[in-house]
Amino acid sequence: MRVLVTGGAGYVGSFTVRELCAAGHEVLVVDNLSTGRRAAVGDVPLIVADIRDEAALGQAFGGFKPEAVIHLAGLKSSEESLSQLRTYFEVNVTGTLHVLNESAGHGVEFFVFSSSCAVYGTPHICPVDEQAALRPENPYGETKHISERLIEWYARTTGMRYVNLRYFNAAGAAGDASLGEFAVERSRQLVPMTMRAALGIVPEVQVYGDDYPTPDGTALRDFVHVVDLARAHIASMKALAQGQRAGCINVGQGTPVSVAQLIAEIGKASGREVPMRVVGRRPGDPGLSWADNTLAKEQIGWSPEFGLPDIVATAWAWHSGDPATLR
Ligand SMILES: NC(=O)c1ccc[n+]([C@@H]2O[C@H](COP(=O)([O-])OP(=O)(O)OC[C@H]3O[C@@H](n4cnc5c(N)ncnc54)[C@H](O)[C@@H]3O)[C@@H](O)[C@H]2O)c1
Repeated sequence: MRVLVTGGAGYVGSFTVRELCAAGHEVLVVDNLSTGRRAAVGDVPLIVADIRDEAALGQAFGGFKPEAVIHLAGLKSSEESLSQLRTYFEVNVTGTLHVLNESAGHGVEFFVFSSSCAVYGTPHICPVDEQAALRPENPYGETKHISERLIEWYARTTGMRYVNLRYFNAAGAAGDASLGEFAVERSRQLVPMTMRAALGIVPEVQVYGDDYPTPDGTALRDFVHVVDLARAHIASMKALAQGQRAGCINVGQGTPVSVAQLIAEIGKASGREVPMRVVGRRPGDPGLSWADNTLAKEQIGWSPEFGLPDIVATAWAWHSGDPATLR
């Protein structure tokens, strides 16, 4: 199948491109390289363009004539979205609208979107399933919620079939350390922040709150290995091609891991305890969020293969092998 991948030079995107190529698909990446890297796509064709640029998108779609689109391009920081509202809505919502318009205009049959568990906000019940109320607690989560709704309407009116994959926290790297995350300096995600402290790039990792109603007081999260996540896109496309109308699907490991537990595991991998300091809760951060991934198993035949030890070991090998990945 011809698959156009927006954001394919980024962290999750580059693994998805790799899995698509391995499955025999023809791939074109569209990425503005704002956080992504040309090297991450290898020799896969790449058009450097912004999804806010309708004319450039039109050219990419017109030339490649994709049958499927995997739309990952976007901004992803909950915290940053609170201060950069306009940019987040422009890139994540207007950008998605443009990608949808081009998809509809060029007869794209299958659409897979990088949504987020941020659409749930703080779930009342964990593990959270797809029927839970959608109550985003930050503009980032709202942009994903709105994008999901846009996709649903385009699908209803064009016959395009879609999967909105609600990712939990992507983590880990390739088993041979050939590909992984390039964390931008401003990244405040837990794995890069802990890696920086473990490698002595920063003195300590800050823990946002230890007064949550959890066993060790730190927040509970769901970390899903990036290779598993990438494979969820391939599974989605396969299910859609077989006639499935899949809708919104959680992609998480399904097991809660506390922030303190993750830091301790990275400490073990690095051979020394990672210094940490508890600071106040971060606005827009849910205390508890992990996935019920039953629907993914049922609808797209996906279940995670990797657990926390694989995530920590591969991420450590990747970042310690090249600390420039933590910029
Ligand atoms: N990483 C996670 O844990 C996670 C969790 C939930 C959802 N997501 C979503 O998954 C997607 C990919 O996330 P990631 O972790 O790979 O992030 P990333 O920053 O590594 O990748 C995003 C890619 O999109 C590109 N991009 C950004 N703005 C663009 C624009 N205006 N036009 C064209 N390209 C643009 C970047 O250059 C980059 O290559 C994002 O939409 C993110 O919101 C990620």
